Amino acid sequence: MINIEVVLSPALLHLTNVKDCNVVVIDILRATSTICTAIHEGAVSVKAVKTPADALKLKELGYLTAAERDGLKLPGFDLGNSPFDCMNGMVTGKHIALTTTNGTKCIEAVAGSGPRNVLSGSFLNLEALAGWLVNDGHDIVLLCAGWKDSFNLEDTLFAGALAESVKRKAPCRIDCDGTLMAMDLYGCASGNISKFLEKSSHYKRLSHLHHEEDMKFCLQHSVFEDIVGLVDGDMKKI
Ligand code: MLT
Repeated sequence: MINIEVVLSPALLHLTNVKDCNVVVIDILRATSTICTAIHEGAVSVKAVKTPADALKLKELGYLTAAERDGLKLPGFDLGNSPFDCMNGMVTGKHIALTTTNGTKCIEAVAGSGPRNVLSGSFLNLEALAGWLVNDGHDIVLLCAGWKDSFNLEDTLFAGALAESVKRKAPCRIDCDGTLMAMDLYGCASGNISKFLEKSSHYKRLSHLHHEEDMKFCLQHSVFEDIVGLVDGDMKKI
């Protein structure tokens, strides 16, 4: 049986053994949705890097640079953290170096702890990802990026949606209260996820910055089939 654990914030990651697990990093608004979009739009890879300086170093090697802090694109970078920055051929055939406030930090943080795979989670590829996880059959850790080490609603909601979908497809063991809570939260919100999230802090933060279209895009359900995961240190189609 596949065990499913939810880590509600990166600050709690040290409490969970991720060794040999399929870890799904979740930053629904917007980093992991944008990574899935970039790969869907034909980017060869997305490298999650810690700092803007790390991203700029990779520009010399031909990478497109992408940087966001506190919801804003940083000046001097090719791209921000919007899925729309990856459209209209902008990233096709390119390698991208991306740094964001929370999402890319989680990818880096978990990569060194011996996971079987590190995958990028999004509503955009939810059903395909759930199917892939079931076929692979290993235990699953759903790592919510949250906001600066705090819990957030949108990542937890997605963790619940993914856990539900995996559970529908295969026998699972769910003894983790975080997973049970995330599934209940998804149950409360599934009728209208956008409406439910309007009260959340990051929804308000991004609305204030006029990123409503980004949120609408990121909350679309299962419109991509691509599975995106770490291969030799870069997020790629797997
Ligand atoms: C993050 O990594 O914290 C985010 O994706 C923030 C954002 O740009 O919405």
